[in-house]
Amino acid sequence: MNILHISASPRGPHAASRELSNHVVERLLARHPGALVTVRELAGVGDQAALPHIDAGYALALSSAANEPGVDGAQLRSDGLIEELVRADIVVIGTPMHNLTVPSTLKSWIDHVVRINRTMRPTPEGKVGNLPDRPVYLALASGGWRTGERARQPDFLEPYLRAILAMIGLKDVTVFSAEGLALGAERAAEGRARLAPGGTPFRRLIGVVCCVDKIATENCIFCDLLFRHVGPRLCCGAKNVAYRASN
Ligand SMILES: Cc1cc2nc3c(=O)[nH]c(=O)nc-3n(C[C@H](O)[C@H](O)[C@H](O)COP(=O)(O)O)c2cc1C
Repeated sequence: MNILHISASPRGPHAASRELSNHVVERLLARHPGALVTVRELAGVGDQAALPHIDAGYALALSSAANEPGVDGAQLRSDGLIEELVRADIVVIGTPMHNLTVPSTLKSWIDHVVRINRTMRPTPEGKVGNLPDRPVYLALASGGWRTGERARQPDFLEPYLRAILAMIGLKDVTVFSAEGLALGAERAAEGRARLAPGGTPFRRLIGVVCCVDKIATENCIFCDLLFRHVGPRLCCGAKNVAYRASN
């Protein structure tokens, strides 16, 4: 069992999205002891370089019929990143919202792995994914509200990620979301007031967590962890909203 953990925040280990995605990975490891986790930091954290943008050779190769394996540059990186993705049985992506959508380093990863005639192919009906489907968990963090009535911004993050992953064949997507992280003390107080007694496993974050697509109960990987004191319905009920508090 291979788990690919992609992290896109420039804040690295201090990132909210990283904290969320770490929890997902921990829960997956509890379910699949012995699974191998590969961490792919995209944003240049610590002494790791950020994933570069694609280059001219890659762009040319993609628009030519051959589209052969690369010998250097972005083509070679693309081969490696695609191989890493193909090997993964489960993919976990932790990312913040940056300017309404994915951070540029995550876009760069997408540009490297969404590759015509490799991970997807054009058909008269549109582009079709070549990768066998597998579970993908998205752990999304945003300063403002991204979903629901309180959202005051368009969301090009989650719909975009769902669309682009589907284009290469990955449609089994579950989303966990921490929103309103920059909205200050009032929201924090609101969050604390709504938090059920007993359960506050997160250290820093203030905001909302919801798993917005899969209506699961026991199977919800996040609820098992987050809401074990109060039961999973908080998170997995109809469009589920549950807060967590800082301490
Ligand atoms: C360059 C940049 C752009 C941002 N754009 C948005 C945005 O459009 N909408 C939003 O809600 N938050 C935005 N934020 C705030 C982050 O999404 C928020 O701080 C998030 O919690 C960061 O997650 P992280 O700790 O995983 O990096 C932006 C932050 C940065 C640094």
